[in-house]
Amino acid sequence: MLKLVNIVLLFLLVWFTHSLAGEYSGPNRDAEGNIVPTPKGEACIAPVAEMRREHMNMLLHKRDQTMREGIRTKKASLTECINCHVTPDASGNVARIDNKQHFCASCHVAASVSIDCFSCHADRPASMFSQQVSE
Ligand code: HEC
Ligand code: HEC
Ligand code: HEC
Repeated sequence: MLKLVNIVLLFLLVWFTHSLAGEYSGPNRDAEGNIVPTPKGEACIAPVAEMRREHMNMLLHKRDQTMREGIRTKKASLTECINCHVTPDASGNVARIDNKQHFCASCHVAASVSIDCFSCHADRPASMFSQQVSE
């Protein structure tokens, strides 16, 4: 019985530290700390902290209406996210959504988030459709 309690406590401890550590998982970065793949543009559609916290609400269909009030920036278009955030690597290749080199997957894999958006939406810019895929 005591053993079981210990196991439960250990589990809770691991879970708790994990949830603290997992609260924010960042995208892939190079040695200089720049996001890879390199996003286009100088800045995102909203400040980074807001993007980390709110991008899911900005994007989700069903919450579109309710959230619209809260979005003071350009309309959050999934096509635009992909245009800026899915860019070719040094060899001119782009990562697909099932690869953790893909910007969206980079955090989601670590955070165990799975989204079905890309069964309908393109995971790379139209200009990249014929491009090689990175390993
Ligand atoms: C005009 C190009 C552009 C568009 C459009 C864009 N982003 Fe960004 N995004 C950037 C850049 C550049 C950064 C780097 C941080 C900054 O703003 O300085 C960034 C940063 C981020 C970050 C923070 C990464 C971190 O450091 O933790 C997230 C999350 C993000 N973008 C998600 C999105 C999503 C989701 C969309 C679509 C709703 C989107 N972005 C649209 C250019 C863009
Ligand atoms: C069953 C197919 C399907 C799925 C799955 C789907 N969408 Fe869409 N989505 C559409 C269609 C169709 C449109 C309207 C056409 C367009 O504008 O691309 C659309 C439009 C959008 C738009 C507005 C247009 C744009 O480019 O921004 C956003 C934002 C969006 N979807 C986000 C999402 C997100 C986030 C997910 C995953 C949580 C998702 N969608 C999953 C079919 C889908
Ligand atoms: C900085 C890390 C990070 C980046 C980069 C990122 N996400 Fe997320 N995303 C998360 C986290 C963490 C969650 C889960 C949040 C939660 O469950 O409260 C999430 C959740 C989501 C959800 C909601 C999933 C659901 O079913 O509730 C959508 C949609 C989404 N992200 C879309 C995107 C798209 C599209 C991109 C790329 C343009 C992207 N994210 C990039 C961290 C990130």
